[in-house]
Amino acid sequence: MLRVLRGETVERPPVWMMRQAGRYLPEYMALREKYSFFERCQTPELACEITIQPVDIIGVDAAILFSDILVVPQAMGLEVQLVESKGPILPEPIRTRSDFNRIRIPNVNEKLQYVFDAVKLTKKELNDRVPLIGFAGAPWTILCYMVQGKGSKTFDEAKAFCYTQPEMAHRLLQMITDTTIAYCKEQAAAGVDVVQLFDSWGGLLSPNDFKNISLKYIGQIVRALKDEVLVIVFAKGAWHSLKQMADTGTHGLGIDWCIEPQMARKLAGSGIALQGNFDPAKLFAPISVIKKEVSQMLEDFGGQAHIANLGHGILPNTPVDHAKAFVQTVKEYKIENVKV
Ligand code: CP3
Repeated sequence: MLRVLRGETVERPPVWMMRQAGRYLPEYMALREKYSFFERCQTPELACEITIQPVDIIGVDAAILFSDILVVPQAMGLEVQLVESKGPILPEPIRTRSDFNRIRIPNVNEKLQYVFDAVKLTKKELNDRVPLIGFAGAPWTILCYMVQGKGSKTFDEAKAFCYTQPEMAHRLLQMITDTTIAYCKEQAAAGVDVVQLFDSWGGLLSPNDFKNISLKYIGQIVRALKDEVLVIVFAKGAWHSLKQMADTGTHGLGIDWCIEPQMARKLAGSGIALQGNFDPAKLFAPISVIKKEVSQMLEDFGGQAHIANLGHGILPNTPVDHAKAFVQTVKEYKIENVKV
């Protein structure tokens, strides 16, 4: 994976799955019975164990730290609750000037030290078997939760906040950006090999709004990080801006399943690594279908400068055997089959 992100030639594409830690493994569900979500995040031994589970059980080529993008708004002063089967709830979201005035750019070493401790412990336990990916939410996606206060299909209140109070929205986006830069730099200093920025809700914005509200801040983060650590930007649904995202200097770009690999390559340009893009719902298909479709995906990406992955997070209830078949199919792929 590191070689692909550095632009080197590989024998086969590396493979991991977004949201591979947690969600579907019985071994994770057992820990979920005993400890609350934030206990799992904040206890380095638990975060480390959950991070390594898919490496041992599924055989992925990279580990992603068990944590959440919402630890950043939490560190900035907002209460975040994770309510079983409801998802995240922020009981006091930002709507007014006085809400905004409660928000601070935190000292990340003070508020998020547990993340860096989890990184250090996980790096030690992994012992260089596979690289460790750290992550953060992109500022627009974090603003979505800070303003909406919960999950949403449209994030209409977050958008309305940007369109009715643009000055405050941009000040908030800048505060999230500054926090995220400091946070990711410390993750890198603690030992992560790669940082992925998740802009899960980038696709809710028009191309022009995406550039002003999201890409502008993603660009600042990438430019601040790219000489210290390898960076992947995943903005779901924002295929229209792949070229501009590539121009930030990021080493890799995540691709969802709504664009053909060949078209993504055309838009992003040569050289940059592309990561994706299997529809996670397709992991519910019979294993024979998964194998055939994964092989097709690998051919469509052309073998080099590709990190095999899903086009978004693995879904809860995905059969473990099916996740294994996805990974195994990539690992068995022969470079002779691959057009270089
Ligand atoms: O591989 C991993 O899962 C590593 C850790 C990880 C989590 N969240 C743990 C988690 C990562 C990389 C994330 C990112 C994240 N969190 C995103 C961006 C990626 C994406 O899927 O779009 C977003 C939007 C969130 C916010 C969030 N956290 C939501 C919407 C939820 C509820 C539902 C869910 O599972 O997505 C969470 C809770 C959460 N974060 C869980 C896990 C394993 C579920 C907690 C549980 O029920 O055990």
